[in-house]
Amino acid sequence: MNLPDLKKAKIRSDKPSLYKKVENIHQDLFKNEKFFLKTYGCQMNVHDSEQIRAILENLGMSETDNLEDARVVVLNTCAIRENAHDKVFGYLGRVKHLKKDNPNIIVAIGGCMSQEENVVKEILQRHPYINIVFGTHNINELGSLIINATNNKQDIEVYSEEGCIYEGVNYSRDSKITAWVNIMYGCDKFCTYCIVPYTRGKERSRKIEEIIKEVENLKRQGYYEVTLLGQNVNAYGNDLKLGYDFAKLLEEVAKTGIKRIRFVTSHPWNFTDEMIEVISKYDNIMPYIHLPLQSGSDRILKLMGRRYTKQEYLDLVAKLRNKIKDVTITTDIIVGFPGESEEDFLDTLEVVDKVKYDGAYTFIYSPREGTPASKMLDNISLEEKEERLKRLNERINNYSKESNEKLVGKVEEVLILGISEKDNNKLYGYTKGMKLVNVIAEKDAIGKLIDVKITDAKSFSLDGEALKVNN
Ligand code: 5AD
Ligand code: SF4
Repeated sequence: MNLPDLKKAKIRSDKPSLYKKVENIHQDLFKNEKFFLKTYGCQMNVHDSEQIRAILENLGMSETDNLEDARVVVLNTCAIRENAHDKVFGYLGRVKHLKKDNPNIIVAIGGCMSQEENVVKEILQRHPYINIVFGTHNINELGSLIINATNNKQDIEVYSEEGCIYEGVNYSRDSKITAWVNIMYGCDKFCTYCIVPYTRGKERSRKIEEIIKEVENLKRQGYYEVTLLGQNVNAYGNDLKLGYDFAKLLEEVAKTGIKRIRFVTSHPWNFTDEMIEVISKYDNIMPYIHLPLQSGSDRILKLMGRRYTKQEYLDLVAKLRNKIKDVTITTDIIVGFPGESEEDFLDTLEVVDKVKYDGAYTFIYSPREGTPASKMLDNISLEEKEERLKRLNERINNYSKESNEKLVGKVEEVLILGISEKDNNKLYGYTKGMKLVNVIAEKDAIGKLIDVKITDAKSFSLDGEALKVNN
């Protein structure tokens, strides 16, 4: 048994990152059985689940959407806000019930919540029916943990460490058109509200050759788009001390000739001119930047430990708009950080008015145990926070609708991903600027880039008609 330890998770040394090769277990032990996999949280977690799926398939199982059919249930959890936590424990109620009727079911909890000391304590005390708790640093051990779990003892294997880099990971990907590619793991920024540096370890970069090899492989398999993933992609390469950075990586990925490249997430603090130059130079790098603001108030930004001022953020946005043709900019904003006054909040609205975001994810601040902000005096009522969130969302939605309306009548290249959920007669896809479009087109356009005439705009999507297939 290895329990998580927040104090250990905080440690950062200057030891070089460790590279390890993953051993993929292939066994037929669970042949003809099914697994149920549920993912919470960010893209990093979605991609981790593609690794988890490959591990479960390698044990002989196939996936089911029906919890009741599963021999193995895996929940890949998120810790970013309290509501993510509540959702998981809510869902576990159903799992517990099922396990009463069928004690053979193996239940495994992984992801960021498993890295939290208080969560694991709660599992130990109140959830004995959970067989396995594994963390973000040892996903590759899940296969052997499941094999061992047939003895029905509770096994908690969570490591609180800086972490290493695994190569040779097998993924069973969600899509055959777009793929996630990890370029780095962890985070060293320690924004005062955020749990991620504790749950995901130190910033550590994959070597450029390995990333290029993966992108080339994906291109060969027919993938159209890759998303380069990192908690803070601009820090790529810093830990390697090999003289290359994110601008260099991006350029090398662009040169592979894969049709579309995007990246998440960028921190406004070290977004370099070289990066902007590369993005504007290559047609296959999508002009789409997700640039978390968090707050527009200098006072709150300082308390958050964000390392930039409102003006520095606005200057960066101006540079991006100037240099990158038709760039779309989206953001993350937190309202109700401890001590946020109405004046501070108005500063945030002012930035929103100036940037006119194409879209935003907005959140009410949620204290996370072990982070510095959780010890700050939080004296704003929930009512006030909800009211600010509502005002913010109204403002954001107006601007995203406005930016969508500008596209009506224009022709946009859209990568078609599948059948639209809202209207089965339509397909859906994304423009180069990551705008969702519902398109009237023939089904064989799925997986292709097509020219689409935009006919209508809503706050969160566009409507369009297919003109021609481009490839
Ligand atoms: N409370 C609310 N929102 C948070 N985020 C991160 N930590 C918290 C927290 N404690 C938001 C940030 C981040 C996004 C992924 O989640 O806006 O960019
Ligand atoms: Fe992703 Fe952060 Fe949630 Fe972990 S805590 S799953 S890194 S959003």
